[in-house]
Amino acid sequence: MRMYDIIEKKRDGKELDYEEIKFFIKGYTQGRIPDYQAAALLMAIFLRGMNPRETADLTELMADSGDKIDLSGIKGVKVDKHSTGGVGDKTTLVVAPIVAACGVPVAKMSGRGLGHTGGTIDKLESIKGFRTELSREEFIRNVQEVGVAIAGQTGNLAPADKKLYALRDATATVSNISLIASSVMSKKIAAGADKILLDVKTGSGAFMKTLEESIKLARAMVDIGERVGRKTAAVVTDMDAPLGNAVGNSLEVMEAIDTLKGRGPSDLQEVSFELAARMLTLAGIGDMDFCRRKVETAVAGGDALEKFARMVRRQGGDDRIIHDYSLFDKARFEHDVLSDKDGYIQSIKTDSLGTASMMLGAGRETKESSIDHSAGILMYKKTGMEVRKGEVIAKLFTNDRDKIHEAEKVLKASLSYSDHRPSRRPLILAYVDSEGVKRF
Ligand code: URA
Repeated sequence: MRMYDIIEKKRDGKELDYEEIKFFIKGYTQGRIPDYQAAALLMAIFLRGMNPRETADLTELMADSGDKIDLSGIKGVKVDKHSTGGVGDKTTLVVAPIVAACGVPVAKMSGRGLGHTGGTIDKLESIKGFRTELSREEFIRNVQEVGVAIAGQTGNLAPADKKLYALRDATATVSNISLIASSVMSKKIAAGADKILLDVKTGSGAFMKTLEESIKLARAMVDIGERVGRKTAAVVTDMDAPLGNAVGNSLEVMEAIDTLKGRGPSDLQEVSFELAARMLTLAGIGDMDFCRRKVETAVAGGDALEKFARMVRRQGGDDRIIHDYSLFDKARFEHDVLSDKDGYIQSIKTDSLGTASMMLGAGRETKESSIDHSAGILMYKKTGMEVRKGEVIAKLFTNDRDKIHEAEKVLKASLSYSDHRPSRRPLILAYVDSEGVKRF
């Protein structure tokens, strides 16, 4: 078998069989297939698509490409959570400690930034000393003793996805249902949780721009989960605007901590509380009304914040940051972006906003780039809000003064204005599980 022939076959729109997908996944994971051939196949898949059988085979082979974690030593139903990625999406930092504070263990493997979106691991690394590389034993011990651990895709867990994720990030091959579904579900299957809750983002800041595409992605992932015997459900949530006001690593951690203190932005709180309550229902704690109340109590009583602090301490981080944000590295340059006109913000091209944040240093341009944890954007005005000419709509943070002008241009171009207040759609748009799709 030759990689060249597999690329050519997919380039011409033909279906790949199991052995061909296996040849690719094994060969690429073991370093026999070079990046340029893998990138060519990814682009062919991106343009030609994969059918459900090919997607299921790809997922299984990626999940089997390395070790699988056995969480059976941890008492209780283990529920994992994964977002398909958005801008300002720091829900894991809020949801994981809440769920743990409600007595459900959270063993969470997270990723780094991808495309225009941020990643939980990059965010957590803005806390001084915080270790995201944990051995399997330490990861499990922390979940047993603290109730929650968040680690990078450590060791040999779905190594095929680890390599392909980084390659897709650098080759504009992220936004494809088969590639996203196999990437997410291979990791979730290998990570060993009993049940999986997916947050499928939809809108201009998501990889899937329309609700229909997002529901299709949710269904594809729910089907894969059910096929391998893991109860999987998905909440489809709005990503037509950044979630919360902060975009960029340390800015987002501070906002997540604010939310755990009960004073975060309302949109971030609503989505985080919904996800946390859904995770609790999946764990069998009770119905949604009961679980929502439990979530609210965990935040109002400070238990969720305390869980977060314990997790930070246990993973080597300086937990004084929880009460003293000046301990985060500070960007050398701050720049106010002023509105050019009067009116209402009609819409935000949220992926462009993610790109502007990356330009300031918050994301990677190539696989090898390092990131600036202090860089990013605080949005003071979002969709539906009234602005006056000259008013500050956002603040940029960076250590590279030369990037300010370009990022400001991209941010301004991402906004459209209107004379009257536009209506915003709900944040929670659909729920998908094996019984079907419920739209809200
Ligand atoms: N999250 C993942 O883990 N993989 C993707 O492809 C997209 C989002």
